[in-house]
Amino acid sequence: MTKTAKQQISESANQRTLALAPQRSAGASVSALALEPSGLSEDQIAELIAAAAAVRERAYAPYSRFLVGAALRAADGTIFAGCNVENASYGLTICAERNAIAQAIATGARDFTAVAVVSENGVTPCGACRQVLVEFGPEMTVIVVDLRGRRRIYTLAELLLDAFGPKHLPGD
Ligand code: THU
Repeated sequence: MTKTAKQQISESANQRTLALAPQRSAGASVSALALEPSGLSEDQIAELIAAAAAVRERAYAPYSRFLVGAALRAADGTIFAGCNVENASYGLTICAERNAIAQAIATGARDFTAVAVVSENGVTPCGACRQVLVEFGPEMTVIVVDLRGRRRIYTLAELLLDAFGPKHLPGD
């Protein structure tokens, strides 16, 4: 029987794969591995990926047919999800990551420790989304996942070097 993409992603997450993580020294324990480099446990990563995969299925992307789901983990552990929403006026399209941020801000969350982004081929957030993410979580971990469950883990600082942010504006 053919597995759905969601099943593949959650199975892969449950297998505790660290396929694309950097090499670790021999002898490191599994739990130590799971806590690097994101500071999240493997279960927390799997939960975030599952939320992103689920919301991806609600993406409105009739023009590009490129469905994206994003899930943010707030400092208190709450998860907020968003998908891309396209428009016949193409330039009005909103990315999944920015929709997740909007959902979270509307609920009162302001600080985020991680975001998972699920897409067919595991793309990293676009430049505009990186800038919006950095506003609310410069230390954020970015987990990108494809539909085979393969993941790559970055820090947002790696993806947006020397970012412009609130700290660069004169204080009041
Ligand atoms: N997209 C996202 O939602 N997030 C990204 O990080 C990259 C691009 C969406 C926007 C558009 O609906 C589709 O993917 C193709 O660009």
